[in-house]
Amino acid sequence: MCGIVGYIGLPEKTSQHGALDVLLEGLRRLEYRGYDSAGVATVASGTVSMRKKSGKLANLLSEIEAEPMTEASVGIGHTRWATHGAPNDLNAHPHLADGDKLAVIHNGIIENFAQLKAKLVSTGETFASETDTEVAAKLIAQHFTATGGDLTEAMRLAANQLEGAFTLLAVHADQPDRVVASRRNSPLVVGLGDGENFLGSDVSGFIDFTREAVELEQDQVVTITTDDVAIINFDGSPAEGKRFSVNWDAAAAEKGGFGTFMEKEIHDQPKAVEDTLLGRTDASGRLVLDELRIDPEELKNISKIIVLACGTSAYAGMVAKYAIEHWVRVPVEVELSHEFRYRDPIIDDSTLIVSLSQSGETMDTLMAVRYAKEQGARTLAICNTNGSTIPRESDAVLYTHAGPEIAVASTKAFLAQITASYLLGLYMAQLRGKLFQGEIDDILADLHKIPGKIQEVLDGGEQIRELAREMAQAPSVLFLGRHVGYPVAMEGALKLKEIAYIHAEGFAAGELKHGPIALIDQGQPVFVVVPSPHGRDSLHAKVVSNIQEVRARGAKTITVAEAGDADVVDYSEQVFYVPETQPLLMPLLTTVPLQIFACALAAEKGYDVDQPRNLAKSVTVE
Ligand code: G6P
Repeated sequence: MCGIVGYIGLPEKTSQHGALDVLLEGLRRLEYRGYDSAGVATVASGTVSMRKKSGKLANLLSEIEAEPMTEASVGIGHTRWATHGAPNDLNAHPHLADGDKLAVIHNGIIENFAQLKAKLVSTGETFASETDTEVAAKLIAQHFTATGGDLTEAMRLAANQLEGAFTLLAVHADQPDRVVASRRNSPLVVGLGDGENFLGSDVSGFIDFTREAVELEQDQVVTITTDDVAIINFDGSPAEGKRFSVNWDAAAAEKGGFGTFMEKEIHDQPKAVEDTLLGRTDASGRLVLDELRIDPEELKNISKIIVLACGTSAYAGMVAKYAIEHWVRVPVEVELSHEFRYRDPIIDDSTLIVSLSQSGETMDTLMAVRYAKEQGARTLAICNTNGSTIPRESDAVLYTHAGPEIAVASTKAFLAQITASYLLGLYMAQLRGKLFQGEIDDILADLHKIPGKIQEVLDGGEQIRELAREMAQAPSVLFLGRHVGYPVAMEGALKLKEIAYIHAEGFAAGELKHGPIALIDQGQPVFVVVPSPHGRDSLHAKVVSNIQEVRARGAKTITVAEAGDADVVDYSEQVFYVPETQPLLMPLLTTVPLQIFACALAAEKGYDVDQPRNLAKSVTVE
């Protein structure tokens, strides 16, 4: 939610790549975080130059082309997901203050901005925009003057006046040797270069230039110069950041020959699952989850698990529930993070909170995790983003290794989250002696076969794309599933809503007769995720009956079934077969045709698959 970048470099560095090049490259990579507007500000020869434009980054690039900016070695850049104020040119960041010598960009929401603004207005300040950011800019400007031109101290003093969530970056024409930033409840990482340093919402903001980075804690101010990174806490005391190296390179965040990031990420899935499984067993084949950092004794005594997540991650959480309850015999609740916090949940120190988040920055989930920690629960994050806030604030982390996910609609992170949840379930079953080692070995062996099977589904993708092209005009699509197929159905519907703007709903197939069946009319497309005929046969038979029920009422039924399942053929307009695996592992395969379908249908309608309207990938506001 809003992407921010900052850069400062020595002249010999900026002769290779000027500040503007670095900022625009960073914004290109961070655009997935928001694309309502984009803007940059650089400092050169004692003045701030700024360009900003509503709409996608491309609009800003045209603006700069029409009116070029002077060479500079320091600057900041922003790509916006609007919160306060319409997404127009005026509200785009940066915002200027102090006679246009100070430029500020912001990610987050300043909750006390109205009070602060009223106070500033009463002292004669005037505002050019409707944003909360401009309030921060005015405050920094006032402190800059009061401190005799100390941007770091001005930022610190202003940050102490702000409530809510914010990452702020500032440059000032009178102190051009630095970029100063502050953060509270909103992401910020520092990139370390040689004769240059970087700031970004996440490492993709500077991945083209360095893979060495520093994590910041809550409530800190960081000042980057060409040769130094100085961190202080909001109370002014000095602090140290934690260094880390990024384990993927710029190429991993490129489209790799595909037309869109989403297509590429769908095709990355065999590797995402494989990498997430990598290195999780010792020489004797027993699972070892090193990053867990929770005493195995504590995990043995857990009496309840609550899975917290939002969006696609919440559907991965539902799959986790089926697997963990079955293998570990511990009750698992799954709840949307934003609902959990406000209902007075029953938690104690025998509760394990498992948060699922691709970004590790989703504010709803972060707040829910913090709340659970305060109540004494143990917290474990399943996360795809190294160094992000949720894993940092959790007792333990199990990283998924899906690599950078850029398309707003999540695909490979979803499969990687499911894979990691299986690992957690199997690990707990091993610890608590709920499965024999042989059973765990068998499941693991089947999991290791999944990447090859996903590849088979991908190889047959053309059949699905063809159907998507035929169905581009469908006004509504329904999805049905039972057991682990139920969250898959909901994820299939979510994908279609997110990127193809088609009304879509996912239902538990058994719930159909209690209401949703009234929606079925002649020609209504219904996707059915069919359980394996090798699982509990009653389940398979019941879903086949559900298919018949909707078909009898005129539905156009499209089934996703296990290879060799002949029972569905007579009742399906089209069948997409996926290879056979254990019933609980099927979501890793049955999800894939639904992703391909949504992606192809959105492309057919001419929509921007990677950056759908109104959405952002990383939602850092509540
Ligand atoms: C946003 C994205 C979704 C994502 C959800 C949770 O709404 O648009 O694609 O599933 O956030 O994100 P997380 O990073 O916590 O998995």
